[in-house]
Amino acid sequence: MAAVIRLLSPWRFDRLVRASKAARMPCVELHSTAALMAASVEEFNAAKEKLGALKKDPGNEVKLKIYALFKQATQGPCNTPKPSMLDFVNKAKWDAWKSLGSTSQEEARQQYVDLISSLVGAEAPAVAAQPIGSTKGFQTLLMSTEDNITTIRLNRPEKKNAITVEMYNELIEALDHAGKDDSVITVITGSGDYYCSGNDLNNFRKIPEGGVEKMAKDSGELLKRYVKAYIDFPKPLIGVINGPAVGVSVTLLGLFDVVYATERATFHTPFSQLGQSPEGCSSYLFPKIMGAAKASEMLLFNKKLTAAQACEVGLVTEVFPESSFQAEVWTRLRAYAKLPRNSLALSKQLIRGVEKEKLHAINDAEVERLMERWLSDECMQAIVSFFQAKSKL
Ligand code: COA
Repeated sequence: MAAVIRLLSPWRFDRLVRASKAARMPCVELHSTAALMAASVEEFNAAKEKLGALKKDPGNEVKLKIYALFKQATQGPCNTPKPSMLDFVNKAKWDAWKSLGSTSQEEARQQYVDLISSLVGAEAPAVAAQPIGSTKGFQTLLMSTEDNITTIRLNRPEKKNAITVEMYNELIEALDHAGKDDSVITVITGSGDYYCSGNDLNNFRKIPEGGVEKMAKDSGELLKRYVKAYIDFPKPLIGVINGPAVGVSVTLLGLFDVVYATERATFHTPFSQLGQSPEGCSSYLFPKIMGAAKASEMLLFNKKLTAAQACEVGLVTEVFPESSFQAEVWTRLRAYAKLPRNSLALSKQLIRGVEKEKLHAINDAEVERLMERWLSDECMQAIVSFFQAKSKL
């Protein structure tokens, strides 16, 4: 612990004070898993030792959090006089400790243990923190179940996980399987640096024998079934957004129950740029989630949101630092997955059930409109421009 305190050197006043302010903002707050069980004193002591073995400096914001949790766990709520405004370092430390309010010593101990374990986990290879249990074979996805969590991972990292016709079909099958298996929660995430770059625009270049009309009709039916799989999904569905998200991978987030994002993620729906229109029930759910004006900026005017902005408007539940994203999120999800399966599924169905019929009608209407759009000159021209820019024609 002494090492941690030493790292808070006085020449970092500026960043430290900024960090202590940021720690109070909900969207950029550093996170540790809510205590479902209290850690033992042995676990706490073991975590203290692990802290000394960390190879990377976790940054001032995290160090302040560690300091505060340590004080709260060992001494209880902050009871020392407030340092003077000019004593920047001690003031930042005092603020961090004070911000824990009346958090109990047991809970602080658990949060301390979770935070250290997430930092240690983040230094291990990224896959170590992720499920590797039983798997099901797909061409474009990795699907596995472990610790009561079924994980569906989009797996075309070299194409930024763009969704091909094959991937749409596999996702529908994977969701059907996950909805029926024994897992408690289902997670969708991506491989590589992107979460997903949306519809694979090559889908528009594969014209079947029936011509473009047949292509639009087939694509419409596929999209409708795809969105339906989300509307009807029977248990908690969690998005672990590991990087930028585009198009349909963003619009569908309104149908997820919880969305965790790395600070590196962005959220972009360039429909009008592509001569298209919104899908995934976003024409209804986005205005409902974020208000009509913010939804219009995204859905009409292609505004790209940062993770923090997406969190502010309610599309994202929580944003995590990139360095501890995987470790923190999976620690938290494992805790959630210990909750009773049926209670979670039935509660989710109560929350979502009220609007199910409406959502299906919206899905139908959005797909109708898109089938027309896909045949429009505006759309064709935009697709051609994308591939011309990529020198694919
Ligand atoms: N459809 C088809 N191919 C896609 C794709 C998509 N949606 N997204 C990425 N790719 C392909 C690229 O063509 C490229 O293929 P190549 O290696 O054969 O050239 C590869 O994935 C890597 O993408 P690249 O464009 O080189 O990476 P980047 O970091 O420069 O840009 C994106 C990433 C996502 C910003 C850019 O690829 C893009 O704008 N894609 C289109 C996104 C889109 O409009 N989606 C539909 C929304 S409705």
